[in-house]
Amino acid sequence: MERKYVIKGGKPLKGEIEVSGAKNAALPAICATLLAPGVYKLKNFPKVRDVFNMLKIMESLGATYEFKKDYVEINTEKVERVFIPYELASQMRASILFLGALVGGFKSAVVPMPGGCAIGKRPVDFHIKGISQLGANIQLEKGNLVVSAKKLKGTQIVLDFPSVTATENLMMAASLAEGETIIKNSAKEPEVIFLGEMLKKMGAEIKGLGEDTIYIKGKKKLNPVNIEIIPDRIEAGTYLVLGALMEENEVIVKNIEKEHLKTPILKLEEIGVALEEVGKNALKVKRGKTLNPVKIITAPYPGFPTDLQPFFTILLTQAEGISFITENIFENRFLYVYELKRMGAEIEVENRTAIIKGPTSLMGSPVKATDLRAGAALVLAGLVVEDVTTVYNVEFIERGYENFVEKLLSLGADIKIEEDES
Ligand code: EPZ
Repeated sequence: MERKYVIKGGKPLKGEIEVSGAKNAALPAICATLLAPGVYKLKNFPKVRDVFNMLKIMESLGATYEFKKDYVEINTEKVERVFIPYELASQMRASILFLGALVGGFKSAVVPMPGGCAIGKRPVDFHIKGISQLGANIQLEKGNLVVSAKKLKGTQIVLDFPSVTATENLMMAASLAEGETIIKNSAKEPEVIFLGEMLKKMGAEIKGLGEDTIYIKGKKKLNPVNIEIIPDRIEAGTYLVLGALMEENEVIVKNIEKEHLKTPILKLEEIGVALEEVGKNALKVKRGKTLNPVKIITAPYPGFPTDLQPFFTILLTQAEGISFITENIFENRFLYVYELKRMGAEIEVENRTAIIKGPTSLMGSPVKATDLRAGAALVLAGLVVEDVTTVYNVEFIERGYENFVEKLLSLGADIKIEEDES
């Protein structure tokens, strides 16, 4: 049954909100357990829908998992299948990460070719090309990528674009290839570096993490490890913007890795929102009397993250003037703007740029989530509006935000989860 959030906004939110482990670090970490049979303990693990989905896929391969007090234990000793079921994989694009892990660990894989999604075509040509260059044979059969490799041989791979999951797939496969692999124009996101560090702890020999070129010396075998998932920088950014929307300046966001949020924090300061350190990895959000309009251009890390673009759009509807947000990563990531316009936002989208006129007082309205981040952003808009806003398709939000409603309730938000009979 679908669910919706009914929000009575306009209340001053105050209190402390804790950031969970990063979904986009947990997902590749789960796949990496296929590179070496054994028992792994993953701490600070986010309990979100995408992660549960991925663990279900792991079970279908023969792995087992168990949630303990403050970690999840994954056992891949009995994995023997390499077929990823469409029904589970089709809901989640990150299932493409099984490609690199299974080819690395088992030299074969059958992974559904992901479809597009609301924010873009999301092709996987870089993944296919890179894995083929390592010596694997990949055929598309009945919607599945059917992969086999006698062995994997290290080589030089140049990515047309620093793709996050393509870099992660190639690092996993190359860790068990013969010889050295060089990945040029590799992604530098903290989640990519986290996976690289996990692989190194497993015995992989990797250099250049966080730089333009990553060097991987393949090994014959790797070993299971225990690791702690890094905090979710996008969830953290979500709550920093929530604090910036509240004039009372009483929101504290905890368990923040500031290093991973340098660009968004600089942008918040440019808008007139200060972030005061109030303890180890804890920031108090303090906005000025007025918010300044700014220009934002999304880019690969360490540039401004595309995943925070929807939240800054909401914030900039309250700035005094005209702001511009250019989305360079995904070709269709402004769909939510048409939901915002129904709330009275004055935004025009021209090609890849949203032109936002502020300040506008938004009105309560029924709106629908079009993707994970857009859905969360519409909830933030609802929390600002002194009226009732209903957000539909909230399953999107629950894919990536652990205890989202509970965390907002702890700040005093008036938000209810209701069944959507429509
Ligand atoms: C990862 O997606 C994240 N997902 C996304 O987060 C995030 O928005 C994105 O990186 C950008 O930071 C996970 O980590 C699971 P890309 P990914 O490959 O790897 C093009 C969220 O909200 N491209 O870096 O799929 C692609 O079309 C999600 O948690 C190709 O053309 O992103 C896009 O324009 C949403 N061919 C650009 O590269 C390819 O083979 C960046 O995509 C691969 C990508």
